Amino acid sequence: MKTQIIPMSESNIQSEGLAPALECLRSEGLVVFPTETVYGLGAHGLVTEAVEKIFIAKGRPADNPLILHIASMDMLEQVARDYEKYLGLLKAFWPGPLTVVLPKKDIVPDVVTAGLDTVAVRWPSGKIARALIEAAGFPLAAPSANRSGRPSPTTAQMAFHDLEGRVPFIIDGGPCELGLESTVVDLSGDVQRILRPGALTYEDLLPFLPVLQGDTKKNEPLRSPGMKYRHYKPDIKIIVFDEVSEIGPLVERHQAGKPMVLGLGKGDGLSPFIQFNDYADFAQRLYSVFFELERTGCDLVLIQRPEERGLGRALLNRILKASDII
Ligand code: TXA
Ligand code: MG
Repeated sequence: MKTQIIPMSESNIQSEGLAPALECLRSEGLVVFPTETVYGLGAHGLVTEAVEKIFIAKGRPADNPLILHIASMDMLEQVARDYEKYLGLLKAFWPGPLTVVLPKKDIVPDVVTAGLDTVAVRWPSGKIARALIEAAGFPLAAPSANRSGRPSPTTAQMAFHDLEGRVPFIIDGGPCELGLESTVVDLSGDVQRILRPGALTYEDLLPFLPVLQGDTKKNEPLRSPGMKYRHYKPDIKIIVFDEVSEIGPLVERHQAGKPMVLGLGKGDGLSPFIQFNDYADFAQRLYSVFFELERTGCDLVLIQRPEERGLGRALLNRILKASDII
């Protein structure tokens, strides 16, 4: 299968540009599309045969359920139940990087939910994603557009690297605005719980969900089925450090010829350093920096440990999942 890249600007979404992608989705094919978080690998979310193709293209375990991407409250009503008491929360953060897990309706195929009686739903704010789902008129099942176990793509080039020859279309809308996956919150039970920290922070959610569980304390089990898999792993050695004084000894111990240090500070002056302006910049660039470093022959990435507040929580979660020594 040849993979065609469709260039598209958020500020000028042409329906002729979207047409082949829409046609492909309607006929049960796969389309990679940008969202504000990361690139998604989309298929018609209500058709089993279409969704099965996602698992094949990604090499994803069948027991890891998918998010349904919607573009209206009518679509939410179509797929989920018991969301009424959360309308305040949904109105505050949708469209945006919030995924909610709710009791599912029968119309949702088992392949989407991995047989669970709940479904994960998100209304993305990315303009191209919204235009695509609105024009399709049905929810798109979409995981991140990487091969299973690799970092999520935040550019079309990263998605192409992982999925070339496995998908007919990739819509290239440029780099994703946030760069980190959505926050997954379970609203299906009596206690609301963060299953995956993400682009929306615990602090953002708290006013709407005062008894929210899942402050990502280290030993707390994460109940999102996907969290048990080794995720976000690039082909380079990654180690987290706390103090700048650890850098030199770590480079020596790992006999790194081409190390790189990442963080908010300035490093120790001994190693090349990529400096982020703040946690938003860190999140936006993290996965694409991994991707670039893989290409430069870098053999050791040392990352300054983010603080566990705000976006720092999600960053630390992803970095520890990508790292070799926790
Ligand atoms: O930002 C995002 O969320 C991106 C973009 C494309 O929207 N998507 C994404 O999808 O990260 P994926 O498949 O890589 O991660 C979805 C997470 C997984 O950890 C999965 O286990 C969890 O959501 N999940 C899906 N359905 C669930 C359910 N019914 N109950 C609990 N967790 C669920
Ligand atoms: Mg993923």
